[in-house]
Formats: sequence, structure tokens, C-alpha cells
Amino acid sequence: MIKAKNINKSFGELEVLRDVSFDVQQGEVISIIGPSGSGKSTLLRSLIGLEEINSGELFIEGISVKKSGKKAYEKMGMVFQGFNLFPHKTVMGNLIEAPIVVKGEKKEEAKKRAEELLNKVGLTDKKDSYPAQLSGGQKQRVAIARALAMEPDIMLFDEPTSSLDPELVGEVLTVIRGLADENITMMIVTHEMGFAKDVSDRVFFMDHGKIISDTVPEKIFVNPESERIQNFLTKILSQN
Ligand SMILES: Nc1ncnc2c1ncn2[C@@H]1O[C@H](COP(=O)(O)OP(=O)(O)O)[C@@H](O)[C@H]1O
Ligand SMILES: [Mg+2]
Repeated sequence: MIKAKNINKSFGELEVLRDVSFDVQQGEVISIIGPSGSGKSTLLRSLIGLEEINSGELFIEGISVKKSGKKAYEKMGMVFQGFNLFPHKTVMGNLIEAPIVVKGEKKEEAKKRAEELLNKVGLTDKKDSYPAQLSGGQKQRVAIARALAMEPDIMLFDEPTSSLDPELVGEVLTVIRGLADENITMMIVTHEMGFAKDVSDRVFFMDHGKIISDTVPEKIFVNPESERIQNFLTKILSQN
């Protein structure tokens, strides 16, 4: 589904991704954890083409991103920490914009799927609201529905609950868990360790631009293989 081979990415002198390689299979849920500045966001942004990599190769469903970037990126949706909704559009407007503009869908068709997606994320009654009228948790659920409206095969999440008040985290994680149950391939950068443990098939631990551990959640959370990971987990769990 996704294949990364020796990805390198620098910002000037700063090497942010260093020889990163991995495979993600159809339907897998991958959590990406690790300290701030370790390259987690840059990895996701590189996958979806928001950053240009310096070397290495990326394949999305067998398509080389280098050869046909746009086509590969269309298979992915991304949800960011900040909600990035169009502030001057209603919830419905946000959901139908890209399907109509990018995919050339008919408005009625786009609206029908938007209704289904709003039902899925529990926001049917908010379709005529503007982002400013929503809570953070509701905005993030709209952002997820908006990404899904493009019918991606892969969903990327970059700390989707980090800017939410604690009492709103659960409703967003519930929606993401629902997607995991539907076998949608996902890569999720998160600091929610309990969630990562439950929902993931595999966990990547990133440190200084490398994936230093790629293993099942039982292994990383119960019996971390290095002191570096152990220290990180102790620190982050003491904050929660
Ligand atoms: N556009 C950019 N220009 C320069 N440096 C950047 C840019 N984006 C990220 N960085 C740097 O790259 C490193 C990794 O950042 P990032 O991928 O955001 O880490 P993480 O998401 O794990 O916190 C950090 O040192 C960060 O300051
Ligand atoms: Mg980040």
C-alpha cells in the first residue's frame, strides 16, 4: 500500500528524515510516536507531497510518487492538529468543496456523500453551521469527514487531538477507532498512548529522523526494546 525506501529530507543543514524505510499493508493502522522534533510531521507531510524529499523513493499502491505525484497523492487524506477548515464555508460547504472542484463531482452527488459522512461522525445537525460555531472536537470531526469525502485509500493523521481540550479528545478518537474497524489504512501521529496501544497493528517509534522501532504495540508498550523508548514512555505517561 505504502512503500518508503531510504527517504532523506533536510531543511538546509538539518537532516530531518534519515534513510527512513517502511512498508504499510492494506488495512493496517500504524501509530507514529516519538519526541518532539523527531520528524513525525515531516514524514507524513512528505508522504502526501507537502514536502519534497531529497532522496529515496515512495510508492503509494505501487505508483511511484516521483513519476506521477498527483495521482498518488489523491489516494491519501490528511487531518492536521489545527483543523484547517474553510472558515467562510458551512460544514456542508467544507465537505463538498474538494469533491466538486478537484474531482468534478456533481453537487447533488457530493452532498449525498457528505450527509452520509456527517452521520458517520455524528454531526448531521451541524451541516449548516460555520466552523466558528463548533467546538474543537466537532471541528476535528468535520475535518475527518472532509478528508473522507475524497474517498482516500489511506488516511494520515498528525496529532489530531493535540489542540483539543481534554474532554473533547474522546469523541475524535472514537471516530478514528471507527475508521480502523472499517479497515481503512491509517498512519496516526499521536501522543495518546492508550489509544495507540488499542488501535494500532504496528507502532513506529521515531527519534532523530529515524524509525528506531517498528513493532507490535504489545512489544513497545509492555516491553520496550531500548532505554530511549522506555524513557520517552515514562515521561509521556507521567504527563497524562
Ligand atoms: N519547514 C521547515 N523548515 C525548517 N525546519 C523545519 C521545517 N519543518 C520542520 N523543521 C524542523 O525539522 C525537525 C522535525 O520537525 P517535525 O517533523 O515537525 O517533528 P515532529 O513532528 O516529530 O515534532 C525539527 O527540528 C523542526 O524544527
Ligand atoms: Mg509534529
